[in-house]
Amino acid sequence: MAGKEEHRGIGPDGPRCLVRRRLLTGLTAGAALIVTGRVARAACALTAPQVEGPFYPVAIGENDWDLTRVSGGTGRAEGEVIEVIGRVLDTQCKPLPGCVIEVWQANVHGRYSHPRDRGDDRPLDPNFQGYARLSTDQEGRYRFVTIVPGSYPAMGDWVRPPHIHYKVHAPFNPPVTTQMYFAGHPLNDKDLLLAPLTPAQRAGLEVAFDAKGADGVRRGTFNPVLGAG
Ligand SMILES: [Fe+2]
Repeated sequence: MAGKEEHRGIGPDGPRCLVRRRLLTGLTAGAALIVTGRVARAACALTAPQVEGPFYPVAIGENDWDLTRVSGGTGRAEGEVIEVIGRVLDTQCKPLPGCVIEVWQANVHGRYSHPRDRGDDRPLDPNFQGYARLSTDQEGRYRFVTIVPGSYPAMGDWVRPPHIHYKVHAPFNPPVTTQMYFAGHPLNDKDLLLAPLTPAQRAGLEVAFDAKGADGVRRGTFNPVLGAG
């Protein structure tokens, strides 16, 4: 795996991202109040950006909301099925309709279906879609069904915790590229992309899958917050 991590966005992109994260250090995450004159209104903190990484699909194939099945497949994807829901918001907590959300992730073995992922010790899953292209409704809502991705080796003894890549495009707001993590995973605290964030920024990216979704699967909520348009 040596040298591979340069392609994972940590090489030339890493320092720039660290600078960006430091610039964001002063921002608070979660709800806060902005007082303008005598009017107080809720505010949502910007979602911390994360590197795109090297495994954005080279060609977009099947991309519907259910990543656990592919047309012509032999069954459901391996791994624990989960449901992810949320809303895309702006910093005033106003929902953003008409956004396009791209998500992509490794399969349960920590393998991406991508030519740059040469982890042959981690098998591909022919029933796993690996990518979806979603849109938000009038309330900014989105939803997809997938599996918990596996962790995978990065560089040296660094192992990436399970995560789902997001790229959110809005009609009138700047896009955000980030990664969603699974709250409480033991690798989160050691991850070189997640651990340097402020606690508030981390809280915005780490999702607890402690609700029951469709068909009784675990469900988590991730609300990407975009800057002003
Ligand atoms: Fe990744």
